Amino acid sequence: MERGEKGINYMEKTGKFITFEGCDGCGKSTQLKMLSNYLTRENISHIFTREPGGGKISEAIREILLSGKNMEMTDECEALLYAASRVQHLRDRVDPALQEGKLVICDRYVDSSLAYQGYGRGLGVEFIGKINAYALEKYLPDVTIFIDLTPEAAFKRKHGADQNDRLELAGMEFHKRVYEGFKALAEANPDRFVCINGEQTPDEIFAQVLSALKEK
Ligand code: TYD
Repeated sequence: MERGEKGINYMEKTGKFITFEGCDGCGKSTQLKMLSNYLTRENISHIFTREPGGGKISEAIREILLSGKNMEMTDECEALLYAASRVQHLRDRVDPALQEGKLVICDRYVDSSLAYQGYGRGLGVEFIGKINAYALEKYLPDVTIFIDLTPEAAFKRKHGADQNDRLELAGMEFHKRVYEGFKALAEANPDRFVCINGEQTPDEIFAQVLSALKEK
């Protein structure tokens, strides 16, 4: 790879890049913990990281993005900040680990931007694709595990079936669009996406995560 030209040289890269995606409350964190325990036990060289975040600058951007004080942020600004944090994170953490032959497990990645900002906020996949071209062209995951749980099911799991919170319900339309976005992305990228039914027990889900990763 040319000095100065950043981005994985897929001929040289020995590590694998695995991303986890899903709606809020889908059970992703539990699976990531189980995978972390497994990889440590099996002595498999890996790093865990997350988006937005995973480095000094990216974590600072995360704080701006997730702070309740920044409610007036425009959708476009939000999308650009996610993309900016991603580029920095790729340089700081993902690329070095992949070049060292490590397994990189990332909690959310560019598919979250396509689903949340593209579909959820309605900015469209074309715009999100353009501002994330760096990630999409140079750092496409080898495997993306999608924990498939509808926002309604995630909401019930969290609050109980009877809860009828107006605020949460208003947000529900947004989360439904996000979910539909993930489904469309999975359908459009069958070679990369592995969809796992999130209604199962954590052990059942984890067995499928492991077998999908071994197969890939
Ligand atoms: P986090 O607390 O890490 O949520 P989770 O545990 O569900 O991953 O917050 C991340 C939030 O950021 C989550 O609501 C999804 C959102 N997000 C986007 O909207 N776009 C993105 O590109 C990424 C990476 C995350």
